[in-house]
Amino acid sequence: MKTGKKAIPTIIVIFGGTGDLAKRKLIPAFYNLFLDGWMPEKFAIIGLGRTELDDEQYNNHLHEGLIEFSRKGKPDDAQWASFKKNVSYFKSNINHPADYITLAEKLDQIDTEWGIRGNRLFYLSVAPQFIEAVTVNLHDSKLASEAASDRIIIEKPFGHNKETAIELNNLLTRTFQEEQIYRIDHYLGKETVQNILAFRFANALFEPLWNRNYIDSVQITVAEQVGVEERGGYYEGSGALRDMIQNHLLQILCMVAMEAPVSFQAEEIRNRKVDVLRAVRRIKPENVHHYAVRGQYDAGWIQGKKVPGYREEPEVSPKSNTETYVAIKFYLDNWRWQGVPFYLRTGKRMQEKTSSITIQFRPVPHSTFPENQSDSLMPNRLTINIQPQMDIRLRFMAKKTGLEMNLNPAEMIFDYDTCSTQTPEAYETLLLDAMRGDTTLFMRSDQVEEAWDVIMPILETWESRESIDFPNYAAGTWGPENAEALIARDGHVWATNLHPKEHH
Ligand code: BG6
Repeated sequence: MKTGKKAIPTIIVIFGGTGDLAKRKLIPAFYNLFLDGWMPEKFAIIGLGRTELDDEQYNNHLHEGLIEFSRKGKPDDAQWASFKKNVSYFKSNINHPADYITLAEKLDQIDTEWGIRGNRLFYLSVAPQFIEAVTVNLHDSKLASEAASDRIIIEKPFGHNKETAIELNNLLTRTFQEEQIYRIDHYLGKETVQNILAFRFANALFEPLWNRNYIDSVQITVAEQVGVEERGGYYEGSGALRDMIQNHLLQILCMVAMEAPVSFQAEEIRNRKVDVLRAVRRIKPENVHHYAVRGQYDAGWIQGKKVPGYREEPEVSPKSNTETYVAIKFYLDNWRWQGVPFYLRTGKRMQEKTSSITIQFRPVPHSTFPENQSDSLMPNRLTINIQPQMDIRLRFMAKKTGLEMNLNPAEMIFDYDTCSTQTPEAYETLLLDAMRGDTTLFMRSDQVEEAWDVIMPILETWESRESIDFPNYAAGTWGPENAEALIARDGHVWATNLHPKEHH
């Protein structure tokens, strides 16, 4: 996390430099860090790809990305000109050792010009099957030979299941030490997700209530309106459980449920998070149907437009068994959370795009109010809206103004007063942390493996039994009916299925 200190001179090498991620997220993030004065005084970005391009063409390609995707919109000509001086392109083949030798020479040359051996940040924005070639070649070419200053950032998926995640971790640690490996989960870089820690541990008020004595249940929802778009090929082999629950939602669960860390040290925080994952009760294969619901979207309507079903998307099998929606009830076996259900839910093509955490407190133990008023008593509820709405709301009961004692729910709201263009993007936070060598917001190997362990019984059960009712929800709805039943059995409803205005 930021400390106010600028990173030391850094060379950033992007494998997959002509890809979508570089254009949409990485370069806009580096550029915004540059504008805000966070980039090191000396830096170089080298994009790698197989396409034949010169530096100018590469920069034009990135410039288009900035116009389309940067939170700050079209770059100012002079500022862009001074940024792009640091950006170059190197046509290369990931599998060719000779190209790594040439790259090493380029990097040495930059060091010589700078008069200092810069930090090196290798960003792997490539398909999983290329990771081995890159790490082996980085090792053999001695490109990443300085453990203290060379780092590798890798994007998910971190394996396809627990076994392959372990294999991947073993592969990476042949070349890098754990402290050099930055596994990105972009949810951890989101402003509102980071704020969970501030909210919980910078206030004395909430922590005493943050346990089974006062909290009745927790909901975590990440709902998207988009479908699988152009990623059908990838998504077919993934599904919502792997794509979202194994990483983003379990990471949010960790932030909500972790014990107070002793310090803000990366390892301390990561240890507390792993404790949560270890406490998650493993669901037995024979009970999966009782705790987890899967869904797949059918054709439907999103914002007045007809959209196709998942099975009609490009590169998706017309008989696909891949889930685009998941709802799960977890329990945590520890003192703090025993008996409190955590409901996690994510889906594509939902009615609304909304990500939020709902902490439902227990009802009052006894109602003091007349019977007709007691019915309107609603338990306290804390809502942390992650995106696109960014706020924290606390619902409480209040007296309705008037001559009689009538009760009404009211809300205290903390709204992020910055408008969205001023809020740093997750990648800005994460890339800056990586340049400074702060691993707090990145996933350690044991976190990744433990998260896989949590979902493996569900994954294996679903893979071994085809779903008989797919597609089972229409695009533009809140998912399959079974998901309502999952939570209704315990007397709850999904909080976000109510429009925010209906909450109070
Ligand atoms: C990615 C998933 O990790 O997160 C995508 O692979 C998903 O399928 C995306 O759409 C959601 O991220 P965000 O930041 O838009 O909520």
